[in-house]
Amino acid sequence: MGATETIQARVTSITREAEGISLYELRNRSGHDLPPFTAGAHVDLHLPNGMIRSYSLVNPEHERHRYVIAVNKDAASRGGSRFIHEHLRDGDAIAVGAPRNNFALDEDAAHSVLIAGGIGITPLWCMIQRLEALDRSWELYFSTRTRQHAAFLGPLRRLGARVHWNFDREPGGAMLDLAQIVHAAPPGAHLYCCGPLPMLDAFERATASRPSQSVHVEYFAARAPAATRGGFTVVLARSGRSLTVLAGKTILETLLDGGLDVQHSCTQGVCGSCETAVLEGVPDHRDLVLSKEEHARNRTMMICCSGSKSPRLVLDL
Ligand code: FES
Repeated sequence: MGATETIQARVTSITREAEGISLYELRNRSGHDLPPFTAGAHVDLHLPNGMIRSYSLVNPEHERHRYVIAVNKDAASRGGSRFIHEHLRDGDAIAVGAPRNNFALDEDAAHSVLIAGGIGITPLWCMIQRLEALDRSWELYFSTRTRQHAAFLGPLRRLGARVHWNFDREPGGAMLDLAQIVHAAPPGAHLYCCGPLPMLDAFERATASRPSQSVHVEYFAARAPAATRGGFTVVLARSGRSLTVLAGKTILETLLDGGLDVQHSCTQGVCGSCETAVLEGVPDHRDLVLSKEEHARNRTMMICCSGSKSPRLVLDL
């Protein structure tokens, strides 16, 4: 399927997983297998209210007959998670984008250290199932408010001492000491973190001296505002059309205002859905998907949040 196509799916079960968290099973309405995915991947849900939201897949990657996502009814939700909890019902039809993976598992690592905060467990639980299937060495540090808030508590408990629990709002609870965890990780280990922004910031500080290819972070929300200074021209190479990006607008907003149908989802630079090849010009990168090296190469950009440092950007659109 093409990048902008969606799968016509149906919700086939909804189950409560933990405090505020429900699992949604989605199957292809045609009865056919779904497109394959790898551990750490996410899919975009095209919600009936017009929102597009990304959710990590939590079921094992060998399953082709279904996608399972875990949705947290977050008070800070921009509307997507709340809509799903309040309106999406068993049997409802829903369009789903093809899986994408910006948080891929290195299956050859000698050891993997996984660090999760709250609903950030979702991609890591998928990775753990894969690491178990491959009989690889791993450990998980999982922090939630209380044990009632911990998704996958039962299956994780069965995995024994490799899971290090932290309930920071229970009596005697404290924040995870990420510096100590990272310091204790053996050389050559790959480290993964998914959770709230303060946890990710602490993880990035703690791993700053590790080789960048062994450090993996998945963001759910932007860390900085989008580039909206405007004052540059975007040229769409395929049609030759030029649009001026005005102050207060992102490139994506400018293209949508211009009537173009452009793939996007989070609009925050965290999902990778709007990644666009850059043919000429220098982007002002603001996303959390591309690595520092990819930013320096300037071959692609996330047009939902990144702007331009040059007066003209030529995009492969
Ligand atoms: S829409 Fe998600 S990164 Fe741009």
